[in-house]
Amino acid sequence: MKHLLKLMDLSKEEIDEILDTADKLKYEKKNGITHHILKGKTLGMIFEKSSTRTRVSFEVGMYDLGGAALFLSSRDLQIGRGEPVQDTARVLSRYLDGIMIRTFAQEEVESLASCGQIPVINGLTDYCHPCQVLADLMTIREYKGEISGKKLCYIGDGNNMTNSLIVGGIKMGMTVSVACPKDYAPDAEIMKWAEATGRFTCTDNVLEAAKDADVLYTDVWASMGQEDEAAMRREIFKGYQINRDVMNVAAKDAMVLHCLPAHREEEITAEVFEEHAAEIFDEAENRLHAQKAVLVKCLA
Ligand code: CP
Ligand code: NVA
Repeated sequence: MKHLLKLMDLSKEEIDEILDTADKLKYEKKNGITHHILKGKTLGMIFEKSSTRTRVSFEVGMYDLGGAALFLSSRDLQIGRGEPVQDTARVLSRYLDGIMIRTFAQEEVESLASCGQIPVINGLTDYCHPCQVLADLMTIREYKGEISGKKLCYIGDGNNMTNSLIVGGIKMGMTVSVACPKDYAPDAEIMKWAEATGRFTCTDNVLEAAKDADVLYTDVWASMGQEDEAAMRREIFKGYQINRDVMNVAAKDAMVLHCLPAHREEEITAEVFEEHAAEIFDEAENRLHAQKAVLVKCLA
């Protein structure tokens, strides 16, 4: 695996391998065992959007592995003043061993990878969020013992998270249901691919989607870049929420995940969020371990 641009590019075996390495790295970190596998390597982290988890977990991850990470805000880079991504890629390839980028267009990540000579890791685009979903799959496996055969239900906006959850969940043998308003469905091509497996449904009926779900997942109604639509979206998405009614139709031992940041009383009630805080914050922690596994696979 040279890059991590989107989960569609990974086989089930590659995802399994990342999750196994992540589990091992987590165990070792908890037991004070260190390996400086990336000694002398430098990761550049380009951010065109805000971040708490992605930034800190990648930076700590590189440090844990013996390497270094540079935080590169697009506000300060020439890319923010219009320097083409093709040139940025060729320049950064001369200094760095890898790039993590968070931006708007998926095409920008893909062209960074094709024009540069170093591994590129997608730290979120409008299209997908592969690093988050690797951590989510790791968390599901920790809590449920296995991923295959479980039902994942996503409620809310059909956004970057939904796209990656559908691809990751289906590839790992899950059944995936999505509940979203009609005009806010996930990517059409991804849905077509998922439907062909016979393990995917998309509906505007929340309780129907949530029925017997083993994992319930939600994300913000307005993503980064959609701040102007936030008020309108609050109206449109009313009811697309993980709450007591949803928990009552899901499996008795259903777990709840949220990529964070969360908006209480919008996509999830404060009550359900706090009841499932253990899972949600394990999930956030697992960003570190899963990304270290990705860094080892791409940069070592
Ligand atoms: N879940 C996630 O990617 O969080 P950040 O936006 O804080 O990085
Ligand atoms: N859909 C959200 C995910 C944040 C981690 C966003 O893009 O803002």
